[in-house]
Amino acid sequence: MAAEIISGTAVAEQIRSELKHKVTELKAKGIHPGVVFVRVGEDPASVSYVAGKGKAADELGIISETIVLPENTPEQQLLDLVHKLNKDHKFHGILVQLPLPKHIDPDKVLNAIEPEKDVDGFHPVNVGRLLIGNPYFMPCTPHGVQELLVRSGNNPDGKHVVICGRSNIVGKPVMAILMQKQKGANATVTMVHTGTKDMANYTQQADIIIAAMGKPQVITADMVRDGVVVIDVGVNRIPDATKKSGFRLVGDTDFEAIKEKAKAITPVPGGVGPMTITMLMVNTVRAAEQQHTKKH
Ligand code: GUN
Repeated sequence: MAAEIISGTAVAEQIRSELKHKVTELKAKGIHPGVVFVRVGEDPASVSYVAGKGKAADELGIISETIVLPENTPEQQLLDLVHKLNKDHKFHGILVQLPLPKHIDPDKVLNAIEPEKDVDGFHPVNVGRLLIGNPYFMPCTPHGVQELLVRSGNNPDGKHVVICGRSNIVGKPVMAILMQKQKGANATVTMVHTGTKDMANYTQQADIIIAAMGKPQVITADMVRDGVVVIDVGVNRIPDATKKSGFRLVGDTDFEAIKEKAKAITPVPGGVGPMTITMLMVNTVRAAEQQHTKKH
């Protein structure tokens, strides 16, 4: 039987419409959520991602500003800007788009963002809070993965989740979220990575696979069991002569083959992608609420 295709676009739309109501309520109380995006240089993917984030904010009535700095900006100048934004009450959230140019240490920059404004959830304080089960902000893509599972009727509670890939942005925080003794989590979690000897041995035992390796179509149909649920976080460009651009986007799994075996699977694009920006907006609204509560 062919799998249900989990539409991230549809789930994201549902969450955004809930959020729109919340923004209206907050504004009636005099709280106007605001977020600032900082982009250094002209990396084409970053230009497109930051534009998408600004558009999402506009649509929800969230104030947003994008600060663009030249590629050769000294590290100290970026740090000074972050310190200034930490004190600017107009912005409840600060996001510095990654990757940064090579001469800038991303850890230094991420550590400089006030944890209460760190809507990415990348600051070590927020990472630590997530791990102990008392999150301040949930990182956007991992939180989007959890919401996709729960809202598509695939609650991970009691299930065996196999996470493929141990990045700080996706794999590790997804593990930290889904292993907690909490609603929409409480899963048995296995992490496989480049040091794993026989990856298929683990993926074949999974009720749910989270693919986040950043390698095109490496999880193939023979590596999964019938009835599996697959969340594919990968976004990879592969050559495609039939496209005007000369490439197309694929995930980390072989979507076409796996959909014949799976219970449900997310497409690429249109799966996890739309969720990431939406969860950033959720965090921005949360930041505004929390900062207002603290002041009063
Ligand atoms: N670059 C790619 N994804 C992200 C993200 O979620 N946040 C930031 N700040 N940069 C990114």
